[in-house]
Amino acid sequence: MSFSIEQGQFVLIVGSSGSGKSTLLNMVGLLDRPTRGKIFIDGVDTTTLNDGNISSFRNQKLGFIFQFSNLLTDLTVLENVLLPRHIGKSTKTTESDAIDLLTSVGLESQINKRANKISGGQAQRAAIARGLINKPSIVLADEPTGNLDSVTSQTIVDLMKSMAKKLNQTFIIVTHDRQHFGNADRVITIKDGKAFEGGQLPMMEVLP
Ligand SMILES: Nc1ncnc2c1ncn2[C@@H]1O[C@H](COP(=O)(O)OP(=O)(O)OP(=O)(O)O)[C@@H](O)[C@H]1O
Ligand SMILES: [Mg+2]
Repeated sequence: MSFSIEQGQFVLIVGSSGSGKSTLLNMVGLLDRPTRGKIFIDGVDTTTLNDGNISSFRNQKLGFIFQFSNLLTDLTVLENVLLPRHIGKSTKTTESDAIDLLTSVGLESQINKRANKISGGQAQRAAIARGLINKPSIVLADEPTGNLDSVTSQTIVDLMKSMAKKLNQTFIIVTHDRQHFGNADRVITIKDGKAFEGGQLPMMEVLP
């Protein structure tokens, strides 16, 4: 497969189970290395980076949101959001950035709660804030609503769309959940190891 994604696009990756969506996302996220082919991010051929460079590249450029929020339950919501900053030893983000992000995902009243004392939907909001804290140019999400009820899913989708628009970040989202995601800038369907433009649903418009 060969395709390129522009900065700021909100892109859905869809396709049947086992078609290779997570594999693709993990390769774009530099969590897996392709056995052949190349992946360019901001002009850099990431397949030539060594392990040390991969870690710092990932930490500077990429943010991750997974199906399960994977928060550390011994830490507070705020401490969880600040974790990528500690890992990257990044000085460009501050605690007040984290509080601003948590406020924009509607968690201002939960900031100092332990992560195991909040609901699944709140945990996923916190995971979104954590995915955005290092100001990544690309946010990657694998089934971010896969573990949520319908109402919470819609809230999380709306939140991701509004954050994408506000921050002009690229979002690449693997999902089975076309119902909640609705329209996106692009939909890429993975089938039999190939990528096709357009989703199973005929509806496809550019976000307002
Ligand atoms: N670590 C692995 N080692 C070997 N094969 C794997 C590994 N992970 C996935 N696969 C295989 O690669 C193919 C693609 O898997 P992948 O997880 O990318 O699918 P997917 O589209 O994300 O599916 P789902 O919608 O169920 O999450 C499948 O045939 C799967 O069995
Ligand atoms: Mg998958």
